[in-house]
Amino acid sequence: MLSYRHSFHAGNFADVLKHIILIQILEHLGKKEKPFCCIDTHAGPGYYDLNDAYALKNKEFENGIGKLWHRPDLPDSVYSYVNFIKTFNNAGELIRYPGSPSIIKQFLRSKDRLFLYELHSTEIQLLNAVFSRDRRLKVFHADGLKNAIGLLPPVEHRGLVLIDPSYEIKSDYDLVIETLLQMHKRFATGSYALWYPVVERRRNKHLEKAVKTRGLKNVQLFELGIKTDTHEHGMTASGMIVVNPPWTLASEMQQTLPWLADVLAIDGAGSYRIETLAAE
Ligand SMILES: C[S@@+](CC[C@H](N)C(=O)[O-])C[C@H]1O[C@@H](n2cnc3c(N)ncnc32)[C@H](O)[C@@H]1O
Repeated sequence: MLSYRHSFHAGNFADVLKHIILIQILEHLGKKEKPFCCIDTHAGPGYYDLNDAYALKNKEFENGIGKLWHRPDLPDSVYSYVNFIKTFNNAGELIRYPGSPSIIKQFLRSKDRLFLYELHSTEIQLLNAVFSRDRRLKVFHADGLKNAIGLLPPVEHRGLVLIDPSYEIKSDYDLVIETLLQMHKRFATGSYALWYPVVERRRNKHLEKAVKTRGLKNVQLFELGIKTDTHEHGMTASGMIVVNPPWTLASEMQQTLPWLADVLAIDGAGSYRIETLAAE
């Protein structure tokens, strides 16, 4: 049974990087008139109330979006992100945080489509309550890793697959790469954004090695760390592995990541990585 609830973590430093990159990719997809298709394999509930008991338990958002909310000196991509989140809060106090389904939905035009997968019995109800009435969206109470492969290639022949597991089950590290490879085989020109946490660095090394050696092309990695890696429990960093990224993403992240690593660091231990895992 799944116990992970993203409400405990909404708006934390990992969401900041994940959603900045998501917005950059969506802005890029929207630049061409041709419709696109998005698939969110791990949708979560769609919205988060930062005043509820889950979010307030560890107040992770305070060292994420909370630190950026009032800053006047945001780099461009962070400015786009914070301004976007402000539209969910009437530009006022930070109370509501949108999940990936809400973020993607805002970028959809009349012919774009979004497919959402969620397995958790409570989260799927929340997701259905908000997202099931829009004809551009389809919500599935199903395993996104197993089932989304069948949607590829989409008729639009352009789009993004966001893969954002909680890695609650350690086999997810292997499963995500096998799924990514199968998806890529069916839709090689699509963009893929795979989120990962750094909890035990050896698992990340294994994942990165698979990305480098299993035939994927045009893959970049963007990582933000707020603490030094440790053998103790807890996430010290997180990142996104992006297949077929917008050509502007790496230079945008060169501006963004050093700044975020400085601003969100705990005890000055911020770090970042920008690497090409596979060339075009
Ligand atoms: C990290 S959260 C997603 C957060 C969301 N993408 C966002 O950015 O707001 C992961 C979600 O995936 C769900 N989940 C776990 N395994 C899944 C699977 N195989 N298929 C679909 N959903 C899954 C969990 O219940 C959880 O809600």
